[in-house]
Amino acid sequence: MTKTDANQMWGGRFAEGPDAIMEAINASIGFDRRLAAQDIEGSRAHAAMLSAQGIVTDKDAEAIREGLLTILSEIDSGEFQFSAALEDIHMNVESRLTQLVGAAAGRLHTARSRNDQVALDFRMWVRDQADAAMAGLKSLIHALLTQAEAGADWVMPGFTHLQTAQPVTWGHHMMAYVEMFSRDHSRFADARRRMNECPLGAAALAGTSFPIDRDATAQALGFDRPTANSLDSVSDRDFALEFLAAASICAMHLSRFAEELVIWSSAQFRFVRLSDRFSTGSSIMPQKKNPDAAELIRAKIGRIFGANVALMTVMKGLPLAYSKDMQEDKEQVFDAADNLMLALAAMDGMVRDMEANRDALAAAAGSGFSTATDLADWLVRVLGLPFREAHHVTGALVARAEQRDCDLPDLTLEEMQAVHPQITEAVFGVLGVQNSVASRMSYGGTAPQRVREQVAAWTERLSTL
Ligand code: ARG
Repeated sequence: MTKTDANQMWGGRFAEGPDAIMEAINASIGFDRRLAAQDIEGSRAHAAMLSAQGIVTDKDAEAIREGLLTILSEIDSGEFQFSAALEDIHMNVESRLTQLVGAAAGRLHTARSRNDQVALDFRMWVRDQADAAMAGLKSLIHALLTQAEAGADWVMPGFTHLQTAQPVTWGHHMMAYVEMFSRDHSRFADARRRMNECPLGAAALAGTSFPIDRDATAQALGFDRPTANSLDSVSDRDFALEFLAAASICAMHLSRFAEELVIWSSAQFRFVRLSDRFSTGSSIMPQKKNPDAAELIRAKIGRIFGANVALMTVMKGLPLAYSKDMQEDKEQVFDAADNLMLALAAMDGMVRDMEANRDALAAAAGSGFSTATDLADWLVRVLGLPFREAHHVTGALVARAEQRDCDLPDLTLEEMQAVHPQITEAVFGVLGVQNSVASRMSYGGTAPQRVREQVAAWTERLSTL
């Protein structure tokens, strides 16, 4: 195994450098370079505070500031040389700062530790992702509202057990997802509110003896306030876990919708036509148009929920305060966030392009005795039968229709009266699917009027999110 010189940042008490395997297991620069912008922003706020408090000179703070800006542009342009020997983004930046501005760089780490530094960087990164998720959800909700408005009165079958249950409207079905995705939005908003406290200044674990101003750095970095307990500050990853939990539920919703799109776009259903832009072909079967985007969205829940479980497991046995285990937080969250944003964008595109097949929806809406409940309700309302008896009579009529291989409205009045003599011509009024959906006027029901009210209410709310 190769030996290198002792680490330039912490190697004072070390005679030898780390083993190559040690370096391989220890280094996080391969992934935490994604925190570079947050790291530099945090360092700039820290340096400004140190000089404002008289802890470092204005001259040193200015040199640090200039140097950090240079490093940021080197990283942005891709010329920055990352080094695994320098372990992580924090030491890579500080080492380069030393090259650029000399001794002043060594003052930046006053009253700070990598423990509060990484807690800060990561929290800011996750905060950005919560914002991105909320923006993605807003856009998706908008796309769903457009679909719902266009098809507020298009009838389709509503399912339970994936068996035809009662007719519903396309708009109502779209609005069900609006409810789900708006709850996701509120979960991210809620998590963001809770995570918006600044851990910088907790130092290694106990706080610092320097007269720092934590309110100033918290404010400069867009936080509501500093965190209140230094031990908790450096050992808390709830913000990442809450993000992953919200992401998991959101991915689950995306997956359910994706599953419906896979079913709906099949030749057997033909409820929707997905655009070419969000479909793929088969290399062997020329007729195929596959809903790959929907299938991949359906699968994303696996890695996102996996990340949630992985980080929960990393955290569950850790004593206070920081342990290196916590370095394993980042890749999980990076991967989950990347894939959530991709899934949201793909769903957004699919929903915008998707064309409902009104005729196929309407034909399916009327089949499978979907208005049987309306018939039973009519027997209760008009003939005054107890619901249980009405249920039984309707069952007999369904059996009759099944025997004749027709739908309920195709039965003759005589056939109906053979089952229950008091049935009149008026019953046919409730057997049509349009009448059926129009009658579901209860609050939250599928009636087109109710759907339009919900679309209007959500359109209004969306602008306030
Ligand atoms: N790379 C580390 C991490 O991601 C930074 C914090 C290191 N702190 C320490 N005391 N070694 O967690």
